Parts: sequence; C-alpha cells; structure tokens
Amino acid sequence: MNLLGIETSCDETSAALLCDGKVRSNVVSSQCCHTDFGGVVPELASREHERLIFSIVDAAITEANITKNDLDVIAATAGPGLIGAVMVGLCFAEGLAWSLGKPFVPVNHVEAHIFSPFISDEDEHRAPEGDFISLTVSGGHTLLSVVRQNLDYEVIGRTIDDAAGEAFDKTGKMLGLGYPAGPAIDRLSKGGDPEFCRFPRALTSSSQTSRNYRNNFDFSFSGMKTSVLTWLGRHDHDYVQEHLADLAASIQQAIVSVLVEKSISAALLHKIDAVSVSGGVSANTGLRSAMLAACQRHGLDLFIPATTYSTDNAAMIATMAQLMISRGRSATNSYGIAPFARFIPAGKGAR
Ligand code: KG4
Ligand code: ZN
Repeated sequence: MNLLGIETSCDETSAALLCDGKVRSNVVSSQCCHTDFGGVVPELASREHERLIFSIVDAAITEANITKNDLDVIAATAGPGLIGAVMVGLCFAEGLAWSLGKPFVPVNHVEAHIFSPFISDEDEHRAPEGDFISLTVSGGHTLLSVVRQNLDYEVIGRTIDDAAGEAFDKTGKMLGLGYPAGPAIDRLSKGGDPEFCRFPRALTSSSQTSRNYRNNFDFSFSGMKTSVLTWLGRHDHDYVQEHLADLAASIQQAIVSVLVEKSISAALLHKIDAVSVSGGVSANTGLRSAMLAACQRHGLDLFIPATTYSTDNAAMIATMAQLMISRGRSATNSYGIAPFARFIPAGKGAR
C-alpha cells in the first residue's frame, strides 16, 4: 500500500510516502521567515505552506519512485495546530484524494507524535509491543499518557501553562538565541555547567512547597521564564555572555530533570516497563541521555524515534494513518473534515 502523508500544522511543510508500512521518503521544509519575530507568525506560516505544498508533495512522491496514480491512501493533519496552516495541508490532501478517487484519512497531530515510535524506515525496526508510558514534548504540547493496545491511550498529565518546547524557546529568546532556541540551548549546554544556577523544578518532589507532587503528572514551566528573567536582571551583560553556556546547561537540566522524574514515576506507578519520548523536544541530547540512564536504572525499555522524526514531519502522519487503518480506527472516504486548533484526547480518561 502506498500512503501519502501531509503535515502543515505549524512551521514545517512536510510530505512523506509510506510504502507497505516503511518510510520511503520524508521531505521536510522548515520555515525561516519567523526568525526575526521570535515565534511563529500564523499568517506567514499559512502563506509559506501554500507556496511550497505542491513542490514538497511532488518531491516526496518522486523520491519514493512512484507516481501520483500509484497512491492508495492520502492522509493529512487535521489538527491541532494553527488553523490557517492546517487548512493548507488538509484541503490540498482532501482535494488530491477526491480527484484520484482515493480514501482520505484525517490524523491528529499529537496522536501522531505519541505513536511515532512506530515509524519504521528499516527492516529491523524496534517498537513497543505492549503498554507504554508516552512523554510527548513539543513546542505546543507536554503530555504524559498511558498507551494501551489497539491505539487506546489515557492522558495522565499535561502542562498547566507552557509546553516544554516553549520553556526552551522563551528562555532561549531571553538569552538572545533566536527562534526556535531549543536546538541552540542543546548545543550550548554541551560546554556548560548544569549546576551553575538552579532554576525551578515545579510540581516535582523537589519543588519548594509543602505539597508532595510525587504522583502528580502535570507540568508547569512558566516559572522558568520569571526565574531566568530575574537572574538576567541581576547580572550585567558581560557576565551573562561569559556564562551563556552555563545558563543554557542549567535551563536544560531543570527542564530535563522534571521530564525524566515524571516519566519514570508514571511507569513505576502504573507498573509499565516501557517508556517512549516523542515530539520536537525529544531531539534534545540531554533529555535522551538522562532518560536512557534513568530507564536503565529502573529496568525500563526506552523508545525514542530518530531525531528526523522528533520535530514535525509527515512520516509520523502517514504512520498514524497506517496504524488507524490496520486497527480499523479510521473513517476513510470522509471528505470535508473540519480543521481544529486544540488537542482533545481521543482515548479513555480524556480531560
Ligand atoms: O514537535 P515540534 O517540531 O513542533 C510542535 O508540534 O510544536 O516541536 C518544536 C519544539 C520547539 O519548541 C523546539 O525548540 C523544540 O521542539 N526542539 C528542541 C530541540 N529540537 C527542537 N528542544 C530542545 N532541544 C532540541 N534539540
Ligand atoms: Zn508537533
């Protein structure tokens, strides 16, 4: 089966071909037009998707060595995301499916991140076989879920304010690292001292409140901004520049330690022996190594997709559509799907 996936929910225009379940192409174009604004400008994002969608889809089809007429199914992100941006990919995909007389599958972008450990581009691919705890960390979402068989999942924790990616991006912006700042903080951290400054670890066992947050799986990262801003206000420019790497490492350490602590506690509490990490922040090298060390300490299996599949990409959309079809969870032949902006979990325990 040749399945075309399309992703345009934020600032990546992407198309991917899944041939008999394996990724044959995954073309991603990341928009640079937002850098000067320090964040994604929705209208500019939609225009860029509109400008690129034809050529990106063509490139994905050509790279997979097939033609448009060989497509069997077309899938696209229907949300959550920037409505205008989502609409470009969604309308394009529906139009293409309709014109070719092929089924269309709408995909939930966050669910595609949750199930991205199943993206396979090789024969020896290793994916979870039973239940697993999913930490989904991106620029817009931070979720902990218990994932069961047959695509059922229950969200057991989510951020009450900023997402983990936002914590990287907004504190990085304060350090003058541009947008998105996550990759820059990651790079800088490698030469820095993570103990240089202790930024807050909200809602964890080490939070400075009397409440015990041991089995609380919600996150709060907004205090990071205030804390970094306050620190910067107390030190002069030269001192900040001299310690940029130390600050980056301290910010990364604070975010990563919260993510690791909550994921491991969730696995232990729910007696589940596998953990996955997905979404843009899962590209972070500090998070990857800290999560691996913690999982090894507790005898847990860890699944993190290759970094190509961490940030937004259409291979995860195509893979999700494939999983939905194979588990009888997709309403194919549904055209006229409405795009949506916010994440509403489909699984049990939606909240
Ligand atoms: O999944 P994604 O591409 O888009 C959303 O669905 O939001 O995630 C983008 C986020 C941004 O906040 C970006 O700074 C962060 O992922 N990110 C990273 C790294 N690479 C991307 N954060 C920390 N370290 C990285 N290496
Ligand atoms: Zn995403």
